[in-house]
Amino acid sequence: MKVTVVGAGAVGASCAEYIAIKDFASEVVLVDIKEGVAEGKAMDLMQTASLNGFDTKITGSTNDYSKTADSDIAVITSGIPRKPGMTREELIGINAGIVKSVTESLLAHSPNAIIIVVSNPMDTMTYLAHKVTDLPKNRIIGMGGALDSARFKYRLAEALGAPISDVDGMVIGGHSDTGMIPLTRLATRNSVPVSKFLSEERLNQVMEDTKVGGATLTKLLGTSAWYAPGAAVSAMVQAIACDQKKMFPCSCFLEGEYGLNDISIGVPAIIGRNGIEEIVEIELDEAEKAKLTSSAEAVSKTNGALSDILK
Ligand code: LAC
Repeated sequence: MKVTVVGAGAVGASCAEYIAIKDFASEVVLVDIKEGVAEGKAMDLMQTASLNGFDTKITGSTNDYSKTADSDIAVITSGIPRKPGMTREELIGINAGIVKSVTESLLAHSPNAIIIVVSNPMDTMTYLAHKVTDLPKNRIIGMGGALDSARFKYRLAEALGAPISDVDGMVIGGHSDTGMIPLTRLATRNSVPVSKFLSEERLNQVMEDTKVGGATLTKLLGTSAWYAPGAAVSAMVQAIACDQKKMFPCSCFLEGEYGLNDISIGVPAIIGRNGIEEIVEIELDEAEKAKLTSSAEAVSKTNGALSDILK
């Protein structure tokens, strides 16, 4: 199993590290446009192999996509991250051109790869990857919901004073500060609805803290986060590589599911060797449906900025 990770910044390198530590892939290729950075991070990571006990071979390449040939899975993290105070949507001008050219370079050498898009604004970059490649919808997946759900579980565990392993929850909708929909109604503490333990007010606070999860970290760190994003991507890569049929909310291209069309947005999906193997349509209540509609409207509005690049 060969995995390429484009972008050897903090998210790309963390993703490569977690994939290697989990030891399910034979090879990870890191690619970056900055001379020597991918090679350097690959070498540094390889020097952890005997310490961390993995056999995955990590190599680096400065923009030479021939090194990525015949990858089974390709992750796109390229582009600029947001700075404090910026929204993910503000990155579109620069990142759209980068994501388009990276997607084309990847597929030229790995025509059968399943692509995971991480670059922001993620739902719009996932949509762009669909539009420029016309690949079947199972092969392009946006990573957002797995990360947002992990942040939701962190906030729920904090509010409950419970271990995270006792908590389950999911975030659907757009991967943006306003578009995320943490499904508090369906969240549980060891199968018991969290509303049994938390007041509506506390749950609303959990919801709001989850939605600004990325922005909170950007403010603290001065740039966007990398450990949880890297871990979330690596979990999705593993679900594909090991054909786990794991359910993640992720950005899927929709053709009528949830009443939405011609958009990539976060909904639950079964992820296995074929990428998105099934979009799971769960029953939403009226308030959740209304939130999904308005989240989709915002993503479509951002997609509108692609009109030049998609000409
Ligand atoms: C975040 C970025 C990866 O939410 O969008 O941290």
